[in-house]
Amino acid sequence: MNVIVVKDYDAVSKEAFAVMKEVVTNKKDAVLGLATGSSPIGLYKNMIQDHKDNGTSYAQCQSFNLDEYVGIDRNHPESYWTFMHENLFKGIDLPEDKIHVPYGSTKEDCEGYEKAMENVSVDVQVLGIGGNGHIGFNEPGTPFDSVTHKVDLKQSTIEDNARLFFNGKIEDVPTQAVSMGIANIMKAKKVLLIASGEGKAKAIQATVEGPKTTDVPASALQDHPDCILVVDEAAASLLKK
Ligand code: GLP
Repeated sequence: MNVIVVKDYDAVSKEAFAVMKEVVTNKKDAVLGLATGSSPIGLYKNMIQDHKDNGTSYAQCQSFNLDEYVGIDRNHPESYWTFMHENLFKGIDLPEDKIHVPYGSTKEDCEGYEKAMENVSVDVQVLGIGGNGHIGFNEPGTPFDSVTHKVDLKQSTIEDNARLFFNGKIEDVPTQAVSMGIANIMKAKKVLLIASGEGKAKAIQATVEGPKTTDVPASALQDHPDCILVVDEAAASLLKK
């Protein structure tokens, strides 16, 4: 794992953007694996600004998002579909028909998403990390060989997500989601994990220095050949080395 520690969230976003820019500059038709949550918002802002200022184009790219809530409509203000359009897609030129976000919760819905990804190789997978070490919505205990599946969210994840989204109303946060599995994430050519703040310090320490265990889903990334973690000083504060 390549761990890059920078001062604060702004610096994290700039550093993550530099990685993304290199990928899309070298490959016009790059396949982007995208994530939601507050962590990548700064990266997405940088991508939008760069698209405006420098004309970096995503016209030939396609995107696959990690996950989506179950039980709310795509057009719900807190759906990940809406999040991605508000925070990234409306500001760049990625064609609407090249955007993929999982949807639904049946076995067929999950298989459909797997089918869409079948002949695709993700060039860069953006990830945030949950306070409990989850990636996508792969909660502790998820097998490392998992593919797209329905998930029961842990109470801690529901509480975390209510803090910043859903206007703080825990009762409004869906209790289930559909998520790419850890095996899907591991297939990406490059993984770019973004974390900031003290609340992520334990998860980052366990991911980087702890044993590889399904108790910490992100620890699977220890086996990834090209995994970059961009973290701020607070998120890195429990790292021993
Ligand atoms: C949600 C998302 C994850 C994200 C995590 C952390 O659970 N499904 O993909 O990494 O939240 O969110 P944040 O970046 O807001 O801390």
